[in-house]
Order: sequence, then structure tokens, then C-alpha cells
Amino acid sequence: MNHIRRMRGLAVSFGVLLLLAGCGAKKTEEPEASAQQQFETEMNENLIAVGFSQVGAESDWRAANTESIQSALTPENGFYLIYEDAQQKQENQFKAIRNFILQEVDYIVLSPIVENGWDTVLQEAKDAGIPVILVDRKAQVPEDLYTCWIGADFESEGRRAGEWLEQYLEDQGREDEEINIVTLQGTLDSSAQLGRTKGFGEVLAEHDNWKMLEMRDADFTQAKGQEVMESLLQKYDDIDVVVSENDNMAFGAVDAIQEAGGSCGPDGDITILSFDAVSAAFDAMMAGEINASFECNPLHGPKLQEIIGTLESGGTVDKIQYMEETYFDTDMDLEELRKSRAY
Ligand code: AHR
Repeated sequence: MNHIRRMRGLAVSFGVLLLLAGCGAKKTEEPEASAQQQFETEMNENLIAVGFSQVGAESDWRAANTESIQSALTPENGFYLIYEDAQQKQENQFKAIRNFILQEVDYIVLSPIVENGWDTVLQEAKDAGIPVILVDRKAQVPEDLYTCWIGADFESEGRRAGEWLEQYLEDQGREDEEINIVTLQGTLDSSAQLGRTKGFGEVLAEHDNWKMLEMRDADFTQAKGQEVMESLLQKYDDIDVVVSENDNMAFGAVDAIQEAGGSCGPDGDITILSFDAVSAAFDAMMAGEINASFECNPLHGPKLQEIIGTLESGGTVDKIQYMEETYFDTDMDLEELRKSRAY
């Protein structure tokens, strides 16, 4: 039993003593509840305690990511998971990490909302001897402050979207036309925003006739996506392409375009490229509202479980671990493809 679990064991024994003392003093104590509580605390004592600081619940992708991790790190699989939703605020993640340190968890799993500002709190975790596993987004910190990272190659996703647009315009004989583009960006300074903006930007730079009219932060949410798109439509009447850095913002953009009397998707005036490829994006592609969605795989749970298992048995793990990803567009058999998808 390591130090952390021993300490938790002490706290548990103390709790049990209190329960027993309580049983003697109060005739009204319900023995069944106490026994159940005792069973649960004793069970927890033998589980691997993991504190998970999640970004929030801003998108369908995030919900699928939370679900994947929660359903992998279960008591049946040997884990005691403490889940904290940061509601898209970095200071909430700082608080959660400091609480995990006080609780002496065995591992901290962190999905950093933005890349910068983590040095102090991750140094505190290191000083407490708690390994930190980063999931989804990266943190710009020295490598010794985290054990490993699992996530998507956001830059490749962005490039894939740019190359898709290149091919699409060529297929339509529009490769020399002036193409006006707007981008709905995800939370600024998040890895997903930085990578997708950079990757798409590299392809954009190869086309003098592609004009980026504006890039605006819409925080990865549907409501902000709609609000920002409404204001872009008021400002520009000649938008050809919307690059939305996630599906939920794209859904908001579709609503804004349709409410303004415009049309989008393969048969409409505005081409919509999106990222994530969640189930609702399949609906939107099948309804002819968005053209393509570039996958970002949220199913980190099984990989996380495997990594912790390896570390527990004294093994080493790769520092950087990418998820496999592809893309989907309206030329594909989406009905068939979605059957095998979990999110
Ligand atoms: O970091 C992954 C991104 O965060 C997903 O693309 C987005 O939907 C989420 O909010």
C-alpha cells in the first residue's frame, strides 16, 4: 500500500471508529446505513483514486469525452474517480487540482482549458508526488511536470480541413475564384483552437485567392457560435465558407444563416466546415446543412485506463499519445458510417 492509500486508509479507519462510537451512543442510529457506508469506504480504500479536472460541458464532444472517462475509471475496473467540472474556467481547474492534492489522490487527470498558466499548480502536484496525465488539450509546461498526454493532432485536423476545401473547390471548377472565409474559433489559447487555426492557416497561405475576412472567438459553444455568426452576417454579405472550430459552433452558425434567410451546406450558398464529427453533426450533414466534419476522437477512457494500469505495474508509457482520426462529408454513406460510431 503506498503512502497516499495508507493515509486514506487512516482517514477511513477514523471514520469507522466514529461510526461505531455513534452506534453506542445513539439508539436511533441505522445499522444498515452504517454497514453500507463502512463497506463503501473500505472498498474505496483499495481503489486507485483519480482526480479528473474536466474543462466543462460546453459541447457534445465534451459530453462524450466525460462519458468515456467516467465509464472506464469505474470501481469495477479498480478506480475511485473524483470528477470536477471546471465550467470553462481555469481558476476552477486550479482549485480542483489543489483539492486533489489535499485528498492525496493517486493520479490527477487534467484537460487544460488553455495551454498557458499551469507551471505553479503542476509543480505543486509534482512536489506532492502525484503523477499528472494530460488529456485532450496540452499545457505549455516543462516535460517533467506531467507523465504523458493523450489527445488529437489538432494541427493535422486543421490542415485536413484546408485540403478538403482545396479539393472541393477544384471539383466545382472554383479553384481560381475569390473565396471569402470566416472562422469561428474555439476558446482562445486552447490547444484545439491553436492547432486548428494553424493547420488551416497553412493551407490558406498557399492560396492567394482565399481571403480570411475575420476570425472570431465563439468559445466552442452553440450559443456563441450563433451570436458571432449573426454579427458576421451583418458585417459581410459575401461569405463563401465558414470554418467552425467545433460542431456545436457550426450548429449555431447554421441557425444564424437560416434565420437571416441564407442557405448553407452542399446545396446552399455558404460551405460549412466543422470539427469533431459528433452524432449531431452526422444529422446536420444528412440534412444538407454542413458540408464536412473533421473528426476529433473523444474516447480517451480506455487509453487512460490502460496507461494507469501500466504505471501501476511499474511500466513506462509514451509521453505523447495521439488518437486515430478521420473525416466525414456529404459524399459519403453517412447513414452506414454512423452505425459503428459511439458518439
Ligand atoms: O479540445 C477539444 C475540443 O473541445 C472539441 O473540439 C470541442 O468540441 C471541445 O469543446
